[in-house]
Amino acid sequence: MEINSSRFLSSAPSTTLCPDSKMHEYAFIGRSNVGKSSLINMLTRHNGLAMTSSTPGKTMLINHFIINEESQPWMIVDLPGYGYAKRSKADRDRIRAIIEDYIVNRPQLTCLFVLIDSRHKPQAIDLEFMEWLATEGVPFAMVFTKLDKLTPTAGKKSIELYLEKMKESWEELPPVFRTSSNDKRGRNELLEYIGELNTLPVDRSEEA
Ligand code: GTP
Ligand code: MG
Repeated sequence: MEINSSRFLSSAPSTTLCPDSKMHEYAFIGRSNVGKSSLINMLTRHNGLAMTSSTPGKTMLINHFIINEESQPWMIVDLPGYGYAKRSKADRDRIRAIIEDYIVNRPQLTCLFVLIDSRHKPQAIDLEFMEWLATEGVPFAMVFTKLDKLTPTAGKKSIELYLEKMKESWEELPPVFRTSSNDKRGRNELLEYIGELNTLPVDRSEEA
C-alpha cells in the first residue's frame, strides 16, 4: 500500500456529523501527546496535514482525512487524546463520550490504532481502554511511538515489559507495531497492514 494523496476532509464534534461515506476508516487514538497527529503526517508524508503540538490536548474533534482519493480511497481519522490531566473533568468526560460513541457507532472503522509511548510503563488508563475495546469487539492494534527517543536496547526492553504485562490478562495479543514519526520507522509495516485490511468488507458487522 502506498499513499499517493491525502487531504483534510472535515472536523466533526460527533459521530452523526462525520462524513457519510462507505470507505474503510482507520483511526488513531491514545493519550494526549502520544504522537497521533505526528504519526498521521508520517504515514501520509504530508507535513502539517494533521495538526501537531507540544501542548497536549490539541486535537479536540474527530478529524477525517481522505487518502488516495483518485484511485481506491480510504480514510484516516485523528481522534482527540484521552486522559489529559489538565483538562477539567467535565471536558475529559465529554471527549471520552465523543470517542466512545465514534468507536462503537462507526461500522466502517476497520481498525483502531491505539498509540502507546514506548518510554512509559503500562498505564491503567491504556490497559483499561484496550479491555473496553475487547468487550465491545472493536478491532484494534497497538502502536508503540517515539522509539527514536530510546536506544534500541531500551526500546526493545520497554515494549517487551509492556507485552508481558498484557499477557497477564490477555489470551492473545493484538497486532503490535513499533514506530517513530521522526525516523519513519514502522511506516511500511503499518501501510502494509492497512492494505491487507482494505481488502475486507467495509462494514465490520458484515464479516463472517
Ligand atoms: P494531542 O492531539 O494533543 O492529543 O496530541 P497527539 O497525540 O496528536 O501528539 P502530536 O502528534 O501532536 O505530538 C506531540 C509531541 O510529541 C510533539 O511535540 C511532537 O513533535 C512529538 N512527537 C510525536 N511523535 C514523535 C516521535 O516519533 N519522535 C519524537 N522524538 N517526537 C515525537
Ligand atoms: Mg493530535
